[in-house]
Amino acid sequence: MKFEIKDTGFGQVHAVLCYEDTGIPSELDNLEAGLSAKLGSLAETARFKSKSGQVLEYALGKEGGPLRLILIGGGKTDGDQARTLEEFGAVAVKQTITSGFTSLSLTGAGTNEDARALLGAKLAAYRFDTYKTKLTDDQNPSLESVTLVSGSVSEADWSAYSAAAEGTWLARDLMNEPPNVLYPETYAARIKEMEALGLKVTVLGEEKMAELGMNSLLGVGQGSVRESLTVCIEWSGGGDEAPVALVGKGVCFDSGGISLKPGPNMQDMKGDMGGSAAVVGAMKTLALRKAKANVVGLVGLVENMPDGNASRPGDIVTTMSGQTVENQNTDAEGRLVLCDVLWYAQETYNPRAIVDLATLTGAIIVSLGHENAGLFSNDDDLSAQLTDAGKTEGETVWRLPLGPKYDNLLKSQFADMKNIGGPAAGSITAAQFLQRFIKDGTPWAHLDIAGVAWKSTDKSAMDPSWASGFGPRLLDRFIKDNYES
Ligand code: BES
Ligand code: MN
Ligand code: ZN
Repeated sequence: MKFEIKDTGFGQVHAVLCYEDTGIPSELDNLEAGLSAKLGSLAETARFKSKSGQVLEYALGKEGGPLRLILIGGGKTDGDQARTLEEFGAVAVKQTITSGFTSLSLTGAGTNEDARALLGAKLAAYRFDTYKTKLTDDQNPSLESVTLVSGSVSEADWSAYSAAAEGTWLARDLMNEPPNVLYPETYAARIKEMEALGLKVTVLGEEKMAELGMNSLLGVGQGSVRESLTVCIEWSGGGDEAPVALVGKGVCFDSGGISLKPGPNMQDMKGDMGGSAAVVGAMKTLALRKAKANVVGLVGLVENMPDGNASRPGDIVTTMSGQTVENQNTDAEGRLVLCDVLWYAQETYNPRAIVDLATLTGAIIVSLGHENAGLFSNDDDLSAQLTDAGKTEGETVWRLPLGPKYDNLLKSQFADMKNIGGPAAGSITAAQFLQRFIKDGTPWAHLDIAGVAWKSTDKSAMDPSWASGFGPRLLDRFIKDNYES
């Protein structure tokens, strides 16, 4: 599907954003004399009040003009305009994507923020039909192009948003893939393809990781027939300064291991690589828009399986940092992967800041539901930067506390620490575990995205598939607003 900007013209379907307080735009009279008044009385009858989410369709048929008009409610003009515009574009696509019509045009609010309408449209046009062999023609998209009609949005404005949508699409694709198709090796091969965009990709195999002492990560993967891998993705768009490191949990399937998970919904655990998908998607976005910053993405790719060779509760491993960990629950594996990747990142890149993302704990869903990712940080500035980036892009995060009393819960009788805290504050003790692998003076933040990476219900126009693709937009904004001159 094509997404573009033009000064004038119409698609077969034309979508118009209407606000509660300004009503139906009088410019519609340019399409047909008296049209806005006619639509006003139709809206009255049809109870269309331009409330957010409301839709009113109208058939037109004038030679050379649009065949259909869709009025889409945007709520009040003093609402969050970024979200309103995205939702507008998304709803317009949702209404038309399989309608039989092939072209859609959008007019937004008349500002350069209108690029967000096209972003919403692109996010809404996402499909994951790879394994659907029986779709009829009518079930397949008919829409071929979406055009934003605007005099105020530049190509440069749009290409940055378009790159962000591409990163989100990639994160969704990686997550939606089944775990028999996407496992560390095939995942790494897909990342390697991104070298075509100017990224440098290095893959560490099990032998190399054993040499480095990444025994904790290797322990998680040792029950799997798939080789564990760490993949480093470098984007060097800045000067000589140290990079920002983005680190992602890439558990391609989390069965729980010997501490096996219950059966119902275990299939969702193919998405336990959501943190890594966010990082990979963000790296693609940064490369596509040629970000003026140095950023390195590191993802630990493993599969957590029960097996005769799997790690056991009671096992003690020596991590790359030298610290020892008693494994008390093989289902608390994400932190065991991240601790070695975090250490490797610091040893190799000496980053100016580290942000890790992980579908780390079920407990974060208890705390924050599906509305916010959990944020943990040792640095108030970094924390504020991520919170602001999340607000700007509508991928919001909420900070939770860290502290020595929580850290105490990780004390082990036999090793330097154990990998679980206990029933209380599960997301916080997981974050405390990670913090033990952050060197003093390194600004670090951890995003627990277990509640926002996918959803089984409540699909929305902007977010139409199982995988949300949470992360690339937030991370891209975080880099753009803080690390580019
Ligand atoms: N991948 C899970 C966390 C998860 C749960 C993500 C639900 C998304 C939805 C993680 O590896 C895990 O199993 N965590 C355990 C930790 C516990 C054993 C301390 C959990 O949350 O139950
Ligand atoms: Mn687990
Ligand atoms: Zn997991």
